[in-house]
Order: sequence, then structure tokens, then C-alpha cells
Amino acid sequence: MSTLFFSKAKYTITIIIHLIILVHRSLALSGPVDPTQGFVSLPFNRSYYHIQKPYDVPEDQRYSFSNGIHKCWVYSTDKPHSLSSRTEPRTEIAIQLFETTCVEYRTHLHLICSDRFEHHFPPYGYGYSSGVWQFEGYGYVPTGTSGVCIMQVFGASPHATTLMLRVYNGSLMYYRSQVLIEEIYDEWFRLNVIHDVDGSKVKVYIDGYPVLETDGRGGTSHAFKCGVYAQNDDSFYMESRWRHIKVLRKSD
Ligand SMILES: *[C@@H]1O[C@H](CO)[C@@H](O)[C@H](O)[C@H]1NC(C)=O
Ligand SMILES: *[C@@H]1O[C@H](CO)[C@@H](O)[C@H](O)[C@H]1NC(C)=O
Repeated sequence: MSTLFFSKAKYTITIIIHLIILVHRSLALSGPVDPTQGFVSLPFNRSYYHIQKPYDVPEDQRYSFSNGIHKCWVYSTDKPHSLSSRTEPRTEIAIQLFETTCVEYRTHLHLICSDRFEHHFPPYGYGYSSGVWQFEGYGYVPTGTSGVCIMQVFGASPHATTLMLRVYNGSLMYYRSQVLIEEIYDEWFRLNVIHDVDGSKVKVYIDGYPVLETDGRGGTSHAFKCGVYAQNDDSFYMESRWRHIKVLRKSD
């Protein structure tokens, strides 16, 4: 009787151990993925983006690029990025054509829309209205930066944005509604954002792990931006850093 009991128990334990190994293996299989598979990386250099920063300070007071690292910072007391704008302060790498800003500058700041300034208008940008697009970048947010959007998919309808990734008290959030990563401060993370315009879907990956899949928010004109754009409850100083920024498009 007791021999039978022990052999049964041994059998059960063996089965449990095998199950644990199986579950462990299947978890290991769902490890990080490469979200850029099937996408083509597009040319990207200074001609493809411009810096939006408080209109009354020189660019090098809010943005630097050295050793491959873009650093964007802004203060809660800063001015908007243009005289006519009523938005919160921002320093953003805008991977879009300069057209609208240029018109704004021409209308309101014609004095500083000089030849020297016009010379710096990027001739390229990645505004898009269809297809499947992807932003990739390695981001870094130092402790203390809070109440700020660090990456956005610009353009929606009736809203202004399709996606905002914000930092509140050290957490990375989808707008202010969902925590994606509890603790984001002081560590480089790989960010991939996929925007399927036709399918109206947005996917976000951190370090190769899917953290958000949500619906688009309409609109016909989109672009990627990253940096710091003050939101509610913003800290006095806001900063984010970026490297290896890529814009990709799904190949046919
Ligand atoms: C960026 O790349 C384009 C080609 O895609 C080239 O024409 C342009 O001169 C480059 N600009 C800079 C600043 O390197
Ligand atoms: C962040 O923390 C501060 C202080 O603890 C708190 O007042 C604020 O509500 C928090 N913000 C969010 C969005 O949780």
C-alpha cells in the first residue's frame, strides 16, 4: 500500500516537473521580438527633422547633439514654440516638413525669418497619410522629469495626436490613462512605435516587448516627434535623450 502510494506520488511529481519545464520553455519563447522585421529603414539625417523649442531662446539652449545623443530639455516656465502658439513649452525633434512652422514664422516673425534661417529649413521630412510606419529610437529620461510627453505620433481628428507616450512620476504612460512601464527613469530603453494608418492601429514595444496595442484616432496627416512637451503637473525641468533614431516603412 505504502509502496504503491510512493510510486504514485513519484509519478505525479515527475509529471508536475515536466509541466513546469514546458511552461518555462513556452514563456522563454515569447521573449523579445524585433518589431522592425518586414520594415525598411528610410534615410535619416538633419535634413529630415527640425527642432521645435521655445521661440525666444536659441536652439543650443534647449537642444544638443553630441556623441550620437540628442538631448532635449525645457522648463515649465518656457514660452511655446512659436509666437502664435498657445501650447505648453516643448523641445521636440520633429521629423516632419517645416511648412506650417515656416508659414507661422513668415507671418509673425518675419524679422527673424532671414536668409540664414531659411537656409536651415530641412528640405525633407516624413509626413505620412497612409501605409504602415514605424519609429525606432533608444530613449532615456532622467529622474525628476515628470508631467511630460516624450514621444508622439502627431496628427489625428478631432484630437491633435494619435499617440502620446508620457512620463508621470517615473512611469511611462499612454496619455494619462495606462501605465506601460512602472519605472523608466535613468535607463536607456529601446522604443518601437508602429502606426498602421489604413488599419487604424498603434503598437508600442519597449525593449522588444509589446506594451500597448490600441486604435488610431483618425486624421490624415501624421509625423513622429520625440523630446519633451510639457503636459499637466509638469516638473520645472524636463529632459529626454535619444539615440539611433530611425523611421521605417513596411515594405510591400
Ligand atoms: C541628408 O540626406 C540627403 C539624402 O537623403 C542628402 O541629400 C542631404 O544632403 C543629407 N543632409 C545632411 C545634412 O547630411
Ligand atoms: C506624482 O506625484 C505627486 C507627488 O507625490 C502627486 O501629487 C501627483 O499626483 C503624481 N502624479 C501622477 C500623475 O500620478
